[in-house]
Amino acid sequence: MDFELKTLTPARLCAEKCDALVVLVPQEPSAGDDPLSALITSASDGGDFETKPGKLLQAYRTAGIAATRVLLVGVGEGSARNVRTAVNAAMGAVKNGKGQRVVLCLSLLKDAVASQMQAAVLASADAAYVYGATKSKPPASPLQRVVVAVADAAAAKTGFQKATALARGIELAREWGNRPANHATPVMLAGAARDLAKLPRIKAEILGPKEVAKLGMGSFMAVARGSDEPLRFIVLRYDGGGKADAPVVLVGKGITFDTGGISIKPAGAMDEMKFDMCGAASVLGAFRALADLQPKLNVVGLIPACENMPDGRAIKPGDVVTSMSGQTIEILNTDAEGRLVLCDALTYAERFKPRSVIDIATLTGACMVALGGVRAGLFSSNDALGQALFEAGERSLDLCWRMPLDEEYAEGLKSNFADVANVGGRAGGAVTAAKFLQRFAGKFAWAHLDIAGSAWNGGGAKGSTGRPVALLVDFLLDQAAQGPAALESRSGGAAGKAAAKNTPLKAPAKAAAKTPVAKGAKGAIKVLAKTSAKT
Ligand code: BES
Ligand code: MN
Ligand code: ZN
Repeated sequence: MDFELKTLTPARLCAEKCDALVVLVPQEPSAGDDPLSALITSASDGGDFETKPGKLLQAYRTAGIAATRVLLVGVGEGSARNVRTAVNAAMGAVKNGKGQRVVLCLSLLKDAVASQMQAAVLASADAAYVYGATKSKPPASPLQRVVVAVADAAAAKTGFQKATALARGIELAREWGNRPANHATPVMLAGAARDLAKLPRIKAEILGPKEVAKLGMGSFMAVARGSDEPLRFIVLRYDGGGKADAPVVLVGKGITFDTGGISIKPAGAMDEMKFDMCGAASVLGAFRALADLQPKLNVVGLIPACENMPDGRAIKPGDVVTSMSGQTIEILNTDAEGRLVLCDALTYAERFKPRSVIDIATLTGACMVALGGVRAGLFSSNDALGQALFEAGERSLDLCWRMPLDEEYAEGLKSNFADVANVGGRAGGAVTAAKFLQRFAGKFAWAHLDIAGSAWNGGGAKGSTGRPVALLVDFLLDQAAQGPAALESRSGGAAGKAAAKNTPLKAPAKAAAKTPVAKGAKGAIKVLAKTSAKT
């Protein structure tokens, strides 16, 4: 699917040939004397069109308008949230099985800022995505082309580029999330990381069972024992900052299938445990976006990837293993495996002397029960980091909600036979999981995102959402804009005195628009060169 950004006045919009002209109409739109303005005015006056968010009116072959169909869609007061609602509704109506060429008009929005552009582009990309990797006849995208029409393309360009970069990252995360476990093994995820390393400023290093054993990752290895698929530990680097700048580390849970192991899960909906690597997929997606956006920041991505299977060699309830940190863990429930792979990745993260570490994991059914699919659970031992992530979620409409980390929640993790047990009681399950991880995150500012509810949809619309790529990238861009010592300076630490200078976002490098899309999950989103490569 192609995206293009164009300056189109109302008069020029009327002359633009396309299958569907989608016009976002705010309250009290300013009326001109072109056919489109006349349509909006008469439909509103006649009571057939309202500007409530998502309200639609469709017209076919309208006099004076070149588009085959016109869709007026209300956006209320024009917030980014309303723009998303409106574009979702409009694209749902536009899809008719054929590759549609759509003009999406944002020019009536009073202050068409970047957040509205982002909401419009991401909702369009969402409608354009189709899964095809394991179908004998992969379906074509219902959208072939989306031209985003604005009053001033030059002013909207930066926002457009950020939005399309995000769309690509989200698409990659959705694609890997959706692939069945036999088409997304740890080795294949490592292949996806290797493909990302062909993009500017990205490097990948892949560790296998031998290297992981040498590092002493006894907890991660314990989970992988029951599977015939060999584990991989993926290390990605995006080097956009200075050599000495401390990186942000993203850690993604990469359980490519979670049967529960010996503490096996019930059969119903177990297929959905192929989504248990959505944290890993979000890290891959964030790196895809970084490659396009080229911010001045260093980022490390860590993905412990393996299957959790029952087997003669699998770990058993009661087994005690030694983590890379030296702490021993009594595995009381083999289905609490996410924390067992993440804890060793957190210990590994220490070597980067990170400015912050954020882990992203489909960690607990309890978090899904607590927050549903609307907001991810956010846990942080550092208020500045927690706040920065929360705000990135609000800005990008990829929401999360702060959860507690009181010491009392760790009570149930006490063990008679090891330093810590891997489960507490049923109560507060999302928090006890976070408390377990916190024991391995004492040496840096740390946050944990539990995406069990938000990473995929079940039921008829079963599929990965690509969340929280938008939140992560928004956070990373904000960190880049704050300069190398952002977090410490906000919480008043010593490093903060080294000035939180404002580093502006670097314009995307020329090469970025032409960079190849990761092989094996070929992205469908293209940005037409006219607006994307001109830097
Ligand atoms: N991957 C699951 C969490 C999960 C379950 C996410 C269902 C989304 C939907 C995780 O590995 C798990 O099994 N967690 C257990 C922990 C329990 C044994 C303490 C859970 O949530 O039941
Ligand atoms: Mn599990
Ligand atoms: Zn799991």
